[in-house]
Amino acid sequence: MTHPSDIGPAPGEVQAHRGASAIAPENTLAAFRLAAEQGAKWVELDVALSADGTLVVIHDDSVDRTSSGKGPLGNLSLAQIAALDAGSWFDQRFAGERIPTLAEVISALGELGLSANVEIKQHKHHKHHKHHKHHKSLDQLVHAVQADISQRSAQTEIMISSFDPEALRAMHGLEPDLEMAMLWGRPPEDWAGQLAAIPATTIHMHYKALSIGMLEETTRRGIKVRAWTCNDPVQLISFWGAGLTGVITDNPALFLE
Ligand code: G3P
Ligand code: MG
Repeated sequence: MTHPSDIGPAPGEVQAHRGASAIAPENTLAAFRLAAEQGAKWVELDVALSADGTLVVIHDDSVDRTSSGKGPLGNLSLAQIAALDAGSWFDQRFAGERIPTLAEVISALGELGLSANVEIKQHKHHKHHKHHKHHKSLDQLVHAVQADISQRSAQTEIMISSFDPEALRAMHGLEPDLEMAMLWGRPPEDWAGQLAAIPATTIHMHYKALSIGMLEETTRRGIKVRAWTCNDPVQLISFWGAGLTGVITDNPALFLE
């Protein structure tokens, strides 16, 4: 059996999924700091709006799993969210970690020398509004992302990803120079057409759906592909040579050493 230490560092880009979330509570400043200490240059993080319209960095549509609190994100104010403990659920050593705002994380990235893949989450409770309200909340969401990322330091690069093509389309309208990555578990047959309609230049897909044939086609078309969420470097060995651009992993150390 091949051991990760036998295969050396990954030849592509390594993004720390929700920070170094294998060894720290996901989407916290501690997780981003540890990703930087492991040598990662990129972190992936998830953002959504609080009830009072501030972008916070959290994966789920509720605070239940990753904090000391309870309730849907869309019902909680920033003050309520910021008062929660987002570390103890993972390990008592991280007691006192908070659910950070995107603005706080953007500021920390500058100090840590990190760049970020900002994943825009459009949670269901936003989508179940009437059509015009959905557009209003999407508009609010992308403008909030634009305002926060505009504060990044000169060394911090930003890319945007989402499972929601409408979020990418709206974000591209505001920030046409940023890399837009469409998230799919398994890309649809018509991935090229769907990317062009956004327009997006990149696919972020589940690593188990990777194929050499598809990577040859994406490479031919100048489309980048990153694979999530892979915590076993052996799984990707055959894909780097076929044009895989990067990996999104909970444990960046495995791919960097
Ligand atoms: O960006 C890749 C990955 O984060 C997408 O899935 O559910 O972990 O946000 P999820
Ligand atoms: Mg994510």
